[in-house]
Parts: sequence; C-alpha cells; structure tokens
Amino acid sequence: MIGIASDHAGFETKRKLIEYLTGSGYEVKDFGTSSPESMDYPDVAHPLAESLARGDIELGIGLCGTGNGISMTLNKHKEVRAALCWNEELASLARHHNDANILTLPARFITSDEAIRITATFLKETFDGGRHRRRIEKIPCAQ
Ligand code: RB5
Repeated sequence: MIGIASDHAGFETKRKLIEYLTGSGYEVKDFGTSSPESMDYPDVAHPLAESLARGDIELGIGLCGTGNGISMTLNKHKEVRAALCWNEELASLARHHNDANILTLPARFITSDEAIRITATFLKETFDGGRHRRRIEKIPCAQ
C-alpha cells in the first residue's frame, strides 16, 4: 500500500502518479489535496506521516512545488525518512543508503514523466543495510 499526498502545486502530478501506480498494480491511498485550489501542504503531510507511523502504508510519496515544505513537515515525524529527489539516481540512493520511506518530489521543477520514472525507481530499489543502518539509527534526536 502506497500513500500519496500533495498540495495544489503537485495536484496534477499526483493525479498522473496515481494513474501510473494503480495501472502498475499498486494499492494507493490518496491523502489529498483533491483539487488545484490553493491549500497548505502540512494539512496533507501530517496525515500521510501518521498513516506511515501506524503501518497502514508501507511507503509514501509527497509533492509540493519545490518539495521542500512537504519534506520539512514529513520529517518532523520520527518514523519518517522523507527524501527529496529530482532524478532517478537520487531516488535509488535514497533507498539504498537512507532507507527512505517517503519520496518527496518538486512538482514545479520536474515533468510528470520524470516524476513517474523517479517513483518507479524509488519503489523498486531496496536498503543496503550494514553501515547505512548504523547511520540511519543515529538520525532521531533525543528530544
Ligand atoms: C505553493 O505555492 C508552494 O509554496 C508550495 O508548493 C511549496 O513549494 C512549499 O514548499
């Protein structure tokens, strides 16, 4: 089960990604937004992160115009490792090295076709473990 969320800037790319994912056999839970009308990305990012923390979804995809706002919001949740990726190599490394569990995309800076290719890479790659596990275990802060 893949969760997906975007603000208005990522709405159209999200629609195309959902089409691609369902066509490829994935189950998709859409956390909104549900129209191109202006809205605030935290309102969809927090529910996506909470769903991942509960284990209702295995991986997530978040989009906003730059990818930064949604990444910042998602990464406030200790269970989330959201990685902002704008090409396939970054998406591959985010899985191999960081065990990223949410892919974030800068919808205003990539085409929908690029978003699909980056997503496909993110979903097929896996975590290398080893020294990278030690590093990701050090990410959460004490507070
Ligand atoms: C919306 O205009 C834009 O600020 C938002 O999509 C995102 O880029 C914020 O980080």
